[in-house]
Amino acid sequence: QVSPDIQHMLDAHEVLRKFYHHLLVNTKDGEHALEYLLGRGFTMESIEKFQIGYSLQSWDFVFKFLTKRKFPLEIIEKAGLIIRREKDGSYFDRFRNRIMFPIFDRSGNTIAFSGRSLGDDEPKYLNSPETPIFNKSKILYNFHLARPQIKKFQHAVLFEGFADVISADLAGVENGVGTMGTSLTEDHVSVLKRNVQSVTICYDSDNAGIEAAFRAASMLSHADCSVRIAVMPDGLDPDDYIKKFGPERFRHEVIDASVTLMAFKLLYYRRGKKLQHEGDRLSYIEEVLTEISKLDKAVEKDFYLRQLADEFSLSLDALKEQEKQIYLSDR
Ligand code: CTP
Ligand code: MN
Ligand code: MN
Ligand code: MN
Ligand code: MN
Repeated sequence: QVSPDIQHMLDAHEVLRKFYHHLLVNTKDGEHALEYLLGRGFTMESIEKFQIGYSLQSWDFVFKFLTKRKFPLEIIEKAGLIIRREKDGSYFDRFRNRIMFPIFDRSGNTIAFSGRSLGDDEPKYLNSPETPIFNKSKILYNFHLARPQIKKFQHAVLFEGFADVISADLAGVENGVGTMGTSLTEDHVSVLKRNVQSVTICYDSDNAGIEAAFRAASMLSHADCSVRIAVMPDGLDPDDYIKKFGPERFRHEVIDASVTLMAFKLLYYRRGKKLQHEGDRLSYIEEVLTEISKLDKAVEKDFYLRQLADEFSLSLDALKEQEKQIYLSDR
């Protein structure tokens, strides 16, 4: 049983989630926000399923809405829904004129919101702060809905963003969860570890996303989770990819075709190189050998050394020799 304060915070989130959703789907005030979402390819079904909403262009709508319903001010403030002005102690709403994504805990309670600006206003996403009911580093977006599929397949797909999870769901990938940004935490890893044997990382195909995928992959591997990484054309995120190439290709050419961490590294080292040029080819080979030298298993080393030898018509002995030198010099 939770304390009365916590219950108030949960209840405030619950009534607000419903009202934000109502504003988006049924009112004139929310019309432009609904148009924005539909224009981006969201459907009424996904708006319903993910309970997406809209917060009004107002400084005190939430303040009035919740105080009228007898929620204590300090509680709403602690819950991150309103902010206290230092100078006169008055309050204003945290979220204004944004698309509202409710964030649920594993039981389906709304515990936070993330609000997306409608245009290019910064920040693009404004999140609830850390509160007694919300700890961003522990929550995976969509875990409560995806859980049955995740359990059934013993497999989860990890995304960065809200739009990615929602588009993927619409594309038939219903075991997706989001880290809401690119930092996977040890808490996220243990939630995943408790529920699945394997994870496919499907982060954005930009530098931040690629770096984060490396990091997430190594964290999950250390936790003995089997990991694959999805590869997309440069610059696209999963939501962009689905819009551009459709659900079918996303499932088959991105999710099903995801690769091991080693293969992902090899692809990464190839980015921007012209392998028909000797200089680029040699530096690529050097980078791959360095990666091979970090592998623990002799069989894996052998496998990648042979692959490299075949691809560039090199002698396996020479590659083995050089790999050994790198291995020894890095110790
Ligand atoms: N994020 C955040 N705060 C920001 C920017 C991003 O919390 N200021 C989180 C959000 O959960 C976002 C995710 O990081 O969904 C990934 O960020 P990004 O790739 O920049 O955004 P998209 O999800 O691609 O957003 P959109 O498609 O709406 O532009
Ligand atoms: Mn509805
Ligand atoms: Mn991103
Ligand atoms: Mn993105
Ligand atoms: Mn996006």
